[in-house]
Amino acid sequence: MKWKILSMLTLVVFFGLYACGGNESTEEANATEEPPASMVEDEPEASPFGVGPVQEEITLPDEIDQALAEKGKEIYTTKCIACHNPEHDAIGPAQKGIFERRNPTWVMNMILNPEGMIKEDPVAKKLFEKYNKVAMTNMGLTQEDARAVMEYIRTF
Ligand code: HEC
Repeated sequence: MKWKILSMLTLVVFFGLYACGGNESTEEANATEEPPASMVEDEPEASPFGVGPVQEEITLPDEIDQALAEKGKEIYTTKCIACHNPEHDAIGPAQKGIFERRNPTWVMNMILNPEGMIKEDPVAKKLFEKYNKVAMTNMGLTQEDARAVMEYIRTF
């Protein structure tokens, strides 16, 4: 019986939309259509910015902002040093020269959203495999704090 009610409902909705007519409702109907299954299964195209709250490009000025780096040092030495060493691999990777291999926005997202990055970003996924499947902890930094830490990392 249930399917009968459902198909009746579908018909009602369909004709309702049809009766409304106009381009608007047709466009709306198209917008909510599911993409073909093959597209859903594809790997999402990797963004150089990674996955996370920051999706605008962060550019680092040539000169290091020493005051900002000093603030970052405090945060780094309380929240990051347990797993990271500037020069050597520890629980997590060494970070000296990181901005030569990674986009600053990517680094920011790794700090702010490590769980999402490990799940969805191809580079972070590989790092997770390489570093013994220890997941980097989300240390709950604000975007401002993360930016300060990045400035400190630049001094390594
Ligand atoms: C519990 C240990 C742990 C803590 C604490 C931690 N990390 Fe990580 N971090 C890791 C591991 C392990 C990885 C490698 C990816 C993975 O396995 O999750 C990583 C990866 C990274 C990367 C990417 C490295 C690369 O070479 O691309 C950055 C950047 C980073 N961490 C920054 C930080 C900062 C900044 C802090 C402090 C706010 C911090 N991490 C705190 C363990 C940690």
